Amino acid sequence: MSNKVNARALLAMAEEARGASYSPYSGISVGAALLTATGKVYRGANIENASYSPTICAERVAFFKAISEGECDFIAIAIAGGESGKPSKADFPPCGVCRQVMSEFCNGNFRVIWGNGEKITDKSLSEMLPFGFDKTNL
Ligand code: THU
Repeated sequence: MSNKVNARALLAMAEEARGASYSPYSGISVGAALLTATGKVYRGANIENASYSPTICAERVAFFKAISEGECDFIAIAIAGGESGKPSKADFPPCGVCRQVMSEFCNGNFRVIWGNGEKITDKSLSEMLPFGFDKTNL
């Protein structure tokens, strides 16, 4: 991965972001670190709600923070998640809703990274969301 920050470093930032998770209902804490083309990193953590459906994933928190600050050019996102108080799981890919949000703001070369100290997976968004629905389908 280019732009000053490598996958391992971005994953370490996602791991740090996990610490801010508010997830008393699922007990699953998730952190995300979103890298922009200018080298800035926006962090996010999942935020749950007693009414359940307002819950938002870490990835979308990171994206919405960045978009609402005027960012529009993204390189990669790293995701670290698992049971709160335990190490992140090796396999914690982003949910379908988050993939759809990524596809709104990123091209197919955007990198999606997850894992832990033992295993890192690094895929393109086009691999993560083939045949996605976007504005060209409207
Ligand atoms: N979660 C994320 O933050 N990102 C994902 O991609 C999958 C799921 C959160 C939502 C909820 O707070 C908890 O993990 C369990 O689903």
